[in-house]
Amino acid sequence: MTSERLGSTVTADAAAGAPGAVTPGVADDGFEYICELDELVPNKIRRSAVGGREIGVVRTVAGVFAIGSSCPHQGGPMCDGAIKGTMEPSDRNEYVFAQEGEVVTCPWHGYEFELKTGASVGGAILGRIGVYQVDVRGTAVFCSSKRIRPQRRRAE
Ligand code: FES
Repeated sequence: MTSERLGSTVTADAAAGAPGAVTPGVADDGFEYICELDELVPNKIRRSAVGGREIGVVRTVAGVFAIGSSCPHQGGPMCDGAIKGTMEPSDRNEYVFAQEGEVVTCPWHGYEFELKTGASVGGAILGRIGVYQVDVRGTAVFCSSKRIRPQRRRAE
């Protein structure tokens, strides 16, 4: 049996009584099935693939995100990165923690990147990690294979 919306096939489990279960596949809009939402352990990056490319998918307090697997600094393994927040610029002897669940830290040299934009926190380096659009459809997590391109900054 084929789901019209997703263009994917109901699994044998579904036929045996697990309604709504779908096999991995590509939806009509090009988004690829990653996993069920409850299979994402909070703050643990899950290695996956879209468009034949390795990505990491993670659920945090800030949402569900998909990132490229390679750090723009020296190619560190971003799927092994830690999900955190970061320290904001602040006054002397003042410590302001912010962006909880919105930042991934590369395990090699500790550069931080925003999960939403891929940009380096504070502009520490020019490169970005890849970011991909995620869509949670019911209980299923889908991801686009097209990398989100950052918007250019306008000259002021
Ligand atoms: S390789 Fe990622 S911070 Fe250096």
